[in-house]
Amino acid sequence: MATVGRLIESLRLKDGNVVADVGCGVGQFSMKLAPKVAEHGSVLAEDILGEPLTFLWIRAFLHHQSNIRVIHGDPDGPRLPKGAVDAVLIANTYHEFTNPLAVLDHSFRALRSDGRLVVLDRALDQGKGKTRGKQLKAAHHAVQGAASLARHPLSCVLPLSADHMAFLRS
Ligand SMILES: C[S@@+](CC[C@H](N)C(=O)[O-])C[C@H]1O[C@@H](n2cnc3c(N)ncnc32)[C@H](O)[C@@H]1O
Repeated sequence: MATVGRLIESLRLKDGNVVADVGCGVGQFSMKLAPKVAEHGSVLAEDILGEPLTFLWIRAFLHHQSNIRVIHGDPDGPRLPKGAVDAVLIANTYHEFTNPLAVLDHSFRALRSDGRLVVLDRALDQGKGKTRGKQLKAAHHAVQGAASLARHPLSCVLPLSADHMAFLRS
């Protein structure tokens, strides 16, 4: 899938990196990220629900992906280690956050100084019923606004496909 490929590429992962998958669900992205960081790296797969995390833990075990660590987080904070993460991915989850400012702030604090944050989502609610260009602008504005309020401006927006867009801080 071109979108997934571009998304993973935009995280610029290297062997040995630590990558967090915030709102990982059953781990469709975590399972793809694990080989990118290889055995010396790790995937911090975080969610607020225990059930998908258990499913992912078993899935990782069965696929010998021993570099995936599951984290049961809070709705306001994914419980990531501070300043120790090379990249944070928030995929298809931003629209579910009840407190996006708190989660973005926590995610930025978890990043190393050269860390990357990628938020992937479908056109956010603000863009419903608008043209593609206006949707992108509205969604960028919403996420950028939230990030600035959390005092960590995002640097660019990457339109991935007709339905999805990613916001990068690199
Ligand atoms: C639509 S699923 C996306 C799962 C996965 N990222 C993917 O793209 O396949 C959204 C996930 O976000 C989780 N979630 C919702 N609010 C969250 C929060 N505040 N922190 C972490 N995860 C959250 C849900 O439990 C759910 O598993």
